[in-house]
Amino acid sequence: MLKTVHAGALRLENVGQTVTLAGWVNKRRDMGGVIFIDLRDRDGKTQVVVDSGRNPTAFSIAEQIRTEYVIQVTGVVSPRPQGQQNPNLPTGDIEVLADQVEILATAKTPPFLIDREEAVDESLRLKYRYLDLRRERLQRNLIVRHKAIKFIRDFLDERGFLEIETPILFKSTPEGARDYLVPSRVHPGKFYALPQSPQQLKQLLMVAGIERYFQIARCFRDEDLRADRQPEFTQLDMEISFVERDDILDLIEALIVGMIQAVSLVPLASTQFPRLSYREATERYGTDRPDIRFGLELQEITDLVANSAFRVFAENAAANKPTKAICIPGCGDYSRKQLTDLEEFARANGAKALAWLAIHPENGEIRGPIAKFFTVDQLIALTERLQANPGDLILISSDEKAIVHNVLSSLRMEMARRLGYAQKKELAFCWVVDFPLFEEGEEEGHLAPSHHMFTAPKREHIPLLDSDPHAVLSEQYDLVCNGFEVAGGSIRIHERELQNKIMQMIGFSVETAKEQFGHMLEAFEYGAPPHGGIAPGIDRIVALMCGEPNIREVMAFPKTAQATDLMADAPSEVVQRQLDDLHIAVKS
Ligand code: AMO
Repeated sequence: MLKTVHAGALRLENVGQTVTLAGWVNKRRDMGGVIFIDLRDRDGKTQVVVDSGRNPTAFSIAEQIRTEYVIQVTGVVSPRPQGQQNPNLPTGDIEVLADQVEILATAKTPPFLIDREEAVDESLRLKYRYLDLRRERLQRNLIVRHKAIKFIRDFLDERGFLEIETPILFKSTPEGARDYLVPSRVHPGKFYALPQSPQQLKQLLMVAGIERYFQIARCFRDEDLRADRQPEFTQLDMEISFVERDDILDLIEALIVGMIQAVSLVPLASTQFPRLSYREATERYGTDRPDIRFGLELQEITDLVANSAFRVFAENAAANKPTKAICIPGCGDYSRKQLTDLEEFARANGAKALAWLAIHPENGEIRGPIAKFFTVDQLIALTERLQANPGDLILISSDEKAIVHNVLSSLRMEMARRLGYAQKKELAFCWVVDFPLFEEGEEEGHLAPSHHMFTAPKREHIPLLDSDPHAVLSEQYDLVCNGFEVAGGSIRIHERELQNKIMQMIGFSVETAKEQFGHMLEAFEYGAPPHGGIAPGIDRIVALMCGEPNIREVMAFPKTAQATDLMADAPSEVVQRQLDDLHIAVKS
């Protein structure tokens, strides 16, 4: 090796030792006759002192050195002189007095400073990702990611799971996004699909008798990208035979708690993960991805406003449309302008209007354009229901349930951000269970599965499939953390007949089902064990554990929101011969 120690390793007990370090020049300061170099490697930083009096040759080489040069230094570990220690650096008590300095590689001036946490345009960071990755924060994130994956492997290995790789060139697995397709050279006009997840394959592994499978699986989805989505991402994909829902929830809970305690930079809010039904989550938080780090819960007030003189609320109540509210502590002094802005925000999230009531901090008087439509008793009942105090602001939405929930859950998050609740540095997990099997409404004239079509309906709800499909609840479960869905899974259908029926209900004809999933349906005729599984999104969980708002920060080479790789310039054009080989003509 070109080094005998890492740059983060040396302490006072190493004083007197001769060591060789190799790494990058983080900083260089020429003090006239003495040059100080902060030498950096993945492990940390060490101060190197090159003194012209000690070694003139080493000094003349050090004079040529610039930031980000790669150097090798041999020298003796010494204590730093009194008063020059750096308590912020693990190696801050020592320095290395250089006897030999060698330049291993020169470097151009980097497009941004490596050693400083400053805002750099993200496209520049992505174009020079190899420089961006030299920064401490990203290296720290990659280390957390590595440790998380190692923890997962050890944890599951101890519990009898087998890690099995499944193909990347495969057939469409429907997870609700578009497929990335790969044309076949050998079979003109035919395509592989990159897996949106290994869903079918892991179920086939259960038919194959594997019983406990996992894989750190790369998944590919062509969908609109957001802070928590990338076109290719990684799941901890798992499947277990002879399992029931709570076995999976308990196992994942133990895995996540153990992993967070072992590797996370952000602590757990609680080692108990509350289990909310889909209905409870949406009623209380307006969403099936609730951030439970704070309250600000939605309260039903339909019954209290049904007889009020405010026509919109009364008419909506009569038409079975709910009125719900949230109480925001301490915002009762919001100005007209602030309230108009909030109303705009609500409109952008689907509201026709936003009603509000503000309670005066001293005299408790309630103001707001709708206040005059309520009797004193009605206002008292309302403030009691909402546990509102003087100085609070009540925001009210009245409409179709889905709109009310969307508007109030968006306002809840916005107000939590303004009040600092959403910035709280802790991880609050909860399970959401008992989802409806089908999404509300229909897509292109047929039902759409809420999770995916392999999810089992609750046994006792199977008779409702024909009479009232929207009332059917499923064996789906999602794990949510701080408002992000971090894992999704379900107990599966393992009977061919039921699988056939669900496929037809969501719009597959017998022929298309056979064409696309014939292998699976057939496998189910050869003794499929009852089974279920889950897939935590590794990128999302690691981002949360690192306190990062965007999953790009925990991926070595992520893509932009336009699904491009700015460093390698992908996707890119290919030469005509390659297209010809693939029997592809590109439309201009
Ligand atoms: P699902 O589609 O819910 O389930 O995905 C599971 C988890 O994967 C993560 N995830 C993503 N992460 C980054 N970028 C994306 N584009 C992206 N899409 C999903 C999320 C999500 O909770 N086969 C089923 C699992 C199962 O039923 O066992 C599946 O893929 O954290």
